[in-house]
Amino acid sequence: MVSIRPGPVNVGGIQTPNHLLLAAGILGTTGASLARMLSYGAGAVVTKSIGPEPKDGHAGPCLAILDDGVLNAMGLPNPSKDFVEEISPLKGKPVIASIYGGNPEEFAMVAEWFRGSAAAIELNLSCPHAEGYGAAVGSDPHLVEACTLAVSRLGMPTWVKLTPNVTDITAIGKAAERGGASAIVAINTVKAMRISTGLRRPVLGNRYGGLSGKAIFPVAVRCVYELYESCHIPIIGCGGVSSADNVLEMMMAGAVAVEIGSAVYSDVRVFETIARTLYADDGVPAHDLVGCAHG
Ligand code: SIN
Repeated sequence: MVSIRPGPVNVGGIQTPNHLLLAAGILGTTGASLARMLSYGAGAVVTKSIGPEPKDGHAGPCLAILDDGVLNAMGLPNPSKDFVEEISPLKGKPVIASIYGGNPEEFAMVAEWFRGSAAAIELNLSCPHAEGYGAAVGSDPHLVEACTLAVSRLGMPTWVKLTPNVTDITAIGKAAERGGASAIVAINTVKAMRISTGLRRPVLGNRYGGLSGKAIFPVAVRCVYELYESCHIPIIGCGGVSSADNVLEMMMAGAVAVEIGSAVYSDVRVFETIARTLYADDGVPAHDLVGCAHG
């Protein structure tokens, strides 16, 4: 397996010590857990998504661990503006605030709360099971462009996390690019469900949820590959990454870095585990690999 030369990386307007970032929604609800993931080798960390009003989330069960993935329908639970205090002790660290809103004005308001405390903003335009938010907004290219513009014009690095649950993800990626995004994050979870044959009812309280983990890795690679052919801004690969070889594959598809989520459930030190295999002082420069699978 090829190795990459270690060193600082410029990812969508921020500098990180490596290519391995913590994805939104995993150990991202407190400043202490985010700090812990940085100390365990994450190059940057993305918070749980924060919205314009406090939200309790969906009725449980909210999470099901499957053979090859994780099914969740948390329902965007969050304390809203109070969360800013959680990350203020991490000022100056590579902390990215994930935010959601129902329209451009709400996105701009929530992003503004994080000015000075977050290194970048990641727009959640992709949660597949939140009425009026997430993919409900992020499936419409006009809304994606307007929400992205509302945040990018504030002057903070602006990442846009896309849903795979659309016919043409490149139309959404191009809309984010037109809105001034600094990077695209691909992908959020795949809309999915399971039914308990014993109970004869859906497993999740919300019935539908989002699938993450190894099962969706091929979907994520395909989306990154398609986006690389259509967009010019950096792409951050996300979705089922759990090994150094997965990181290389994402890079070859076109990603400049990756976000890792579900793999943290089985190895809380997954960033260090992957880095041990991924990096070597005599490795190749990462930019030699980014997009190399394209003809
Ligand atoms: C949730 O809180 O329901 C998950 C968030 C997401 O899928 O973006």
